Amino acid sequence: MNNKVFNDKILTLNKISHTYSQNNNNIEVLKDINLEVSKGEIIALTGPSGTGKSTLLNIAGLLENPSNGEVNFCGTNCNLIDEEQKTILRGKNIGFIFQSHRLFPEFSSIENVMLPQLLMGVNKKESLSNAKEILSTLGLEKRFSFRPANLSGGEAQRVAIARALANNPNLILADEPTGNLDPVTARKVFELLHKLVKSIGISCIIATHNLDLANSMDRLITLENGFIKNSKLII
Ligand SMILES: Nc1ncnc2c1ncn2[C@@H]1O[C@H](COP(=O)(O)OP(=O)(O)OP(=O)(O)O)[C@@H](O)[C@H]1O
Ligand SMILES: [Mg+2]
Repeated sequence: MNNKVFNDKILTLNKISHTYSQNNNNIEVLKDINLEVSKGEIIALTGPSGTGKSTLLNIAGLLENPSNGEVNFCGTNCNLIDEEQKTILRGKNIGFIFQSHRLFPEFSSIENVMLPQLLMGVNKKESLSNAKEILSTLGLEKRFSFRPANLSGGEAQRVAIARALANNPNLILADEPTGNLDPVTARKVFELLHKLVKSIGISCIIATHNLDLANSMDRLITLENGFIKNSKLII
C-alpha cells in the first residue's frame, strides 16, 4: 500500500500570478501557479534565487494578495474575505518559520511561544502550559527563560518552530528554515521539524536550497521563470 496517498486539500492555489512594481518597472515574478496541498503533505519548494519562492509562501500564507488568481485555504476562498478575516484565519491556522528566527529579542523562549496564543485569545495559564509542552517536545526544557541572544542558532530555530506550532496550525510555511545553520545542526533541526509535523499531520511547504533535505520530503516542486517547472512525488 502506498502510504503517501494524500486526500483532503487544505490549500489550493489556482492560476496565481504576481507582479511587483518597482521604480516604474514591473517584475512579473509568478506567472501561472497551480498547486494543491493535501492534509499532512510535506512539500519542498526549490528553485534558483529570485524565482519567487518567498513570494509564493507569502501569498499561500495570506500575507500578500496575488495580482491575479485564487487562494483557497481550508475551504475559504480568500478573495472573498477582508484583511481582518484573513488575519484571524492566518493566526489560527498557519505557522511561519523564517531563515532567521525572528523571535522577539526582549522576550524569553516561553514568552515567544505564548505570544501568538495570547493574540488568538488563549488565556495566560493555558498558553503557558502549551508553550512548556511544545518547547519540551523540542528538547528545550532547560531553555524556557532564555532570551534569543542567549540561545544557540539551532536552539533559537527550535523555539521558532515551537512558536509556529503554538496555535495548532493546519499548515506550516517555512522559508529556508535551516538556511542559517551548519549542515549537521540543519539536518537535526529539519528532522525534528519533519518528525513533529508528520506525527501531528500538519501540511508544510518548505522553501529550501538544500536538495538533500528537499528529497526527504513527500513532494518536490521547482519554480522557474514564474511557473512550477517540476513537481515530483518522492517515494
Ligand atoms: N516587495 C517587493 N517589491 C519589489 N520586488 C520584489 C519584492 N519582493 C520580492 N521582489 C522581487 O521578486 C523576485 C522574487 O523574490 P523572492 O524573494 O520571492 O525570491 P526567492 O525565490 O525567495 O529568492 P531566494 O532564494 O534568494 O530567497 C525578486 O526578483 C525580487 O527582487
Ligand atoms: Mg526567498
